[in-house]
Amino acid sequence: MGAEEFLPDQPTIDRMRAAAADCKGCDLWRAATQTVFGEGSDHAVLMLVGEQPGDREDIEGKPFVGPAGRVLDTALESAGIPRAQVYLTNAVKHFRWVRRGKRRLHEKPNSQQVRACRPWLEAEVKAVKPRLMVLLGATAAQAVLGPTFRVTRDRGKVLETPLGIAGLATVHPSSILRSPDDESRDQAMDAFVRDLKVAAGFVG
Ligand code: URA
Ligand code: SF4
Repeated sequence: MGAEEFLPDQPTIDRMRAAAADCKGCDLWRAATQTVFGEGSDHAVLMLVGEQPGDREDIEGKPFVGPAGRVLDTALESAGIPRAQVYLTNAVKHFRWVRRGKRRLHEKPNSQQVRACRPWLEAEVKAVKPRLMVLLGATAAQAVLGPTFRVTRDRGKVLETPLGIAGLATVHPSSILRSPDDESRDQAMDAFVRDLKVAAGFVG
């Protein structure tokens, strides 16, 4: 199990995207529509890492094009981060879901699936060489910083990562969508933008 054997010999982003379309490094490819590989400038200063594609992303084949992506776009704009400086990807490249009636409900990837998919993320980092990885939520943060990392404790701080690139962990934009009321949603968004403004300092 693992994506390693699917990596191309000269792993540019375009070659990897083509190769990842046929990845069977774990069982998640079976129930998903397609691989959702990272997207954006291969010279981006910031690499933003989510958890896994959602329902929309699975259908469209691009990261962060659904509701969480809209929250992320708004927050990036508020933080003054231009899209051209960003490469967007996920810790896991296939959508994991369970059926509930007509809906496909997101299900968190387990640690074996995250580990199986990590060769793609590591190769993306080597190809893009960002100055900072922004880890969105616990799955991405723990994929890179280890299982004991706690976003609530260490969000918004610039840290060393084992990948040799600085990292900054913050919440996942979908957590903002789950806020119980407008006031807590506004607060959560403000805190997210504050963290992204630290990342904005790496641009330019
Ligand atoms: N959530 C993620 O973590 N990634 C996406 O691409 C979309 C939603
Ligand atoms: Fe390969 Fe990752 Fe998809 Fe698993 S989730 S099949 S490792 S691309």
